[in-house]
Amino acid sequence: MKNNLILIGFMGAGKTSVGLAYANARSKRFLDTDQMIEQMAGMSIREIFDIQGEAAFRSMEAEMLKRLLEEAEETVVSTGGGLPLREENQRILKELGRVIYLKVSPETVLNRLKGDTTRPLLAGEDPKGKVCRLLWDRGPIYESAAHMTIDVDEMTVEEIVSEMESLPL
Ligand code: S3P
Repeated sequence: MKNNLILIGFMGAGKTSVGLAYANARSKRFLDTDQMIEQMAGMSIREIFDIQGEAAFRSMEAEMLKRLLEEAEETVVSTGGGLPLREENQRILKELGRVIYLKVSPETVLNRLKGDTTRPLLAGEDPKGKVCRLLWDRGPIYESAAHMTIDVDEMTVEEIVSEMESLPL
């Protein structure tokens, strides 16, 4: 296993905020797979979904993860919420480093993402139903893709960071 730390979990779990705060606290490099993909594609995630479709986005994600496996060292990586769904990605994640699942309830997701227009999977009718269904399907996958789970519903970014600071990296 490489010496990186990877955050996985559902949209709105705080992977990017927590990853950035943790990387700053430990003076580590921080990377976010969604941001890397947006830079590579020269467009937003929403535009990628609209123009090229979800399947193209998932291929970009898998490609980005392989690149990280080759290049990343001592880096904190936050990932898009759907990245652990591919089996091959699950294997690569565990090779890339210590994987932490930031677990949230549907209520927290809906509160945090109210009015958000950047997540194509939650756009349109019945966001509550979509969040519940996706979380139900993905929960067990996140659990098994991670080395450890932190239930973050009631926690601030600072509290999550200090819980993570007890981990080796
Ligand atoms: C997705 C999550 C998003 C982004 C894309 C798809 C998903 O990332 O990768 O919209 O399938 O859950 P965040 O988890 O950072 O919102």
